[in-house]
Amino acid sequence: MNQDFIVTKEHRRFTEFANAVRKEKTIGICHGDAGVGKTNSARRYANWDTLEPYINEWGPRGDHDAKHYALANRSRTVFYTPEVLCRPKTLMDEVDHWQARVGICADEHLRTLDPEPLKPGRAAHLVELLIIDEAERLTPVALELLRDRHDRTHLAMILIGMPGIDQRFRHYPQLYSRLGFSHHYRALGRDELLFVLDRHWKRLGRTLDPDDFTDAQAIAAIERITRGNFRLLERLFPQVNRVLKINQLEIITDDVIEAAASILVIGN
Ligand SMILES: Nc1ncnc2c1ncn2[C@@H]1O[C@H](COP(=O)(O)OP(=O)(O)OP(=O)(O)O)[C@@H](O)[C@H]1O
Ligand SMILES: [Mg+2]
Repeated sequence: MNQDFIVTKEHRRFTEFANAVRKEKTIGICHGDAGVGKTNSARRYANWDTLEPYINEWGPRGDHDAKHYALANRSRTVFYTPEVLCRPKTLMDEVDHWQARVGICADEHLRTLDPEPLKPGRAAHLVELLIIDEAERLTPVALELLRDRHDRTHLAMILIGMPGIDQRFRHYPQLYSRLGFSHHYRALGRDELLFVLDRHWKRLGRTLDPDDFTDAQAIAAIERITRGNFRLLERLFPQVNRVLKINQLEIITDDVIEAAASILVIGN
């Protein structure tokens, strides 16, 4: 899904946060505005774009197994998105399922390194981190089950949600008192916005020059409209392309950006 993943500063901050939660075997929350890139970062951290389809298939073993085993061993993370009306029992069953499978893959890798003693039951404990996206979907019962799981097994957890989710968890003192870290996932900063815009300009077959007056104005308009939000940027550029084509324009000006933005429904 994401060949174009850009390793942003926010992604590196997320990685540090996740490593810390994992090392401390605690529970962390990651919150940030819609569309800033939380899900993408977390999936990337868990190598989920590669592991999820492999584990889902769970077919006859083949040539590329070793690669996936090594990856599972390196990430030792389960990424999970609960359904909208998810039942707590289903949630826990599915988490168990993914945890077991990632564990088995990691175990296979460890066996290639140390074939000697069979360590029964090792696979079950190899996963170190559970990341739950869209955590506002979790019911109080589900949160309680997760907390209980954390207490029993010390599985590190990250709950990802919208701003305010940390406040919501205040209503669950037992969970709240276990929270180790709260991480605010932010929008792109100016430097990175420029970097991302540079790529968008190239994709449209143009070169961005922030020192050029016209480009600087276009950049300012984009900054104002998107506020460094990844999703808004991704949605804006197809429209920019359209506006250029329809009007047979060559240059991306602030007027072009404004026209493109006016087509989009941009919630503010
Ligand atoms: N690091 C990145 N590199 C390239 N594109 C990205 C990156 N992060 C996010 N995007 C783009 O931004 C869009 C939104 O990202 P994402 O779905 O991760 O946001 P989110 O914070 O999880 O939003 P929500 O709160 O709505 O779930 C993605 O579809 C993707 O196109
Ligand atoms: Mg998301």
